[in-house]
Amino acid sequence: MADNLPNLSGARVAVLGAGKMGGILLQAFLKQQILSPERLLATVAHAERAAALSAQWGIQVSNDNLSAADAADVILLGVKPFQVPALLEEIRPALTPEKLLISFAASVRTEAIERAAVEEVPVIRAMPNTPSMLGAGISALCRGRYVRPEHMELAESLFAAVGRTVVVDEKHMDAVTGLSASGPAFIYIILESLAEAGVKVGLPRDIATLLAAQTTFGAAKMVLETGYHPALLKDAVTTPAGCTIDGILELEEGGLRVTLIKAVMRASQRAKELAAG
Ligand SMILES: NC(=O)c1ccc[n+]([C@@H]2O[C@H](COP(=O)([O-])OP(=O)(O)OC[C@H]3O[C@@H](n4cnc5c(N)ncnc54)[C@H](OP(=O)(O)O)[C@@H]3O)[C@@H](O)[C@H]2O)c1
Repeated sequence: MADNLPNLSGARVAVLGAGKMGGILLQAFLKQQILSPERLLATVAHAERAAALSAQWGIQVSNDNLSAADAADVILLGVKPFQVPALLEEIRPALTPEKLLISFAASVRTEAIERAAVEEVPVIRAMPNTPSMLGAGISALCRGRYVRPEHMELAESLFAAVGRTVVVDEKHMDAVTGLSASGPAFIYIILESLAEAGVKVGLPRDIATLLAAQTTFGAAKMVLETGYHPALLKDAVTTPAGCTIDGILELEEGGLRVTLIKAVMRASQRAKELAAG
């Protein structure tokens, strides 16, 4: 029974579909030493990639999903959303209530994963993001119907190793996908544009990029650590008749706010559709 679920220090974890996101998570687990190489397994689709990754990561990487799922206590699903049904079909014989299944595929609902298993398998859906690579990620987690507090605890400690975690209702997972999973790409565009702006006003590119990146980082840190509303922090920068207000005027005229809101809305909408292929 699920009572036997080992804690993180004893669990064997398999990442099925160790691509960009799976690879980031898996390498972070190793780097943070929350899992030793012997307790981490992975699969990918192509045999030559499996061999190369096995050598690179120093863990067992194969194309055999069923064996990996069979050997693991915690199974992470990291394939593309449309590939999840076929993968579940393949590993179904290994899915028992003693295992914990964590899917980080966008769009795929816990209910669809539960239905694909014969038994009452605990399923957690997670939505991490790429800054997990540096321990600066944020992952939202939601629980399926057979999940118990100890399963959530284990999943939270796994994802806490790569950044912050939040627990949300499943109805919010597509919104999370549009905001924090797609979000790094939006921020990179803002950051790249700020750096480009620095070049336009005469700064060397490397200095402009550093100024833009550290400013983005610093502003985010201020929001996270002071707990102040971003508008209040913005007001502290904006002196009457100063330079910042002139810049803000341009941002408002250019519709930056509405553009960002629409970007997250569109990404969230797309997240609802991905599982269908
Ligand atoms: N990228 C992100 O920022 C991000 C953030 C949050 C969640 N996600 C989710 O993460 C999942 C993967 O996205 P990604 O960007 O990491 O894509 P990706 O780099 O293409 O990774 C997919 C991996 O799945 C492997 N694969 C495909 N079919 C397989 C099979 N039948 N058995 C075992 N492995 C198989 C591929 O193997 P090969 O390498 O051999 O082709 C590849 O390594 C998606 O569901 C996405 O929604 C991504």
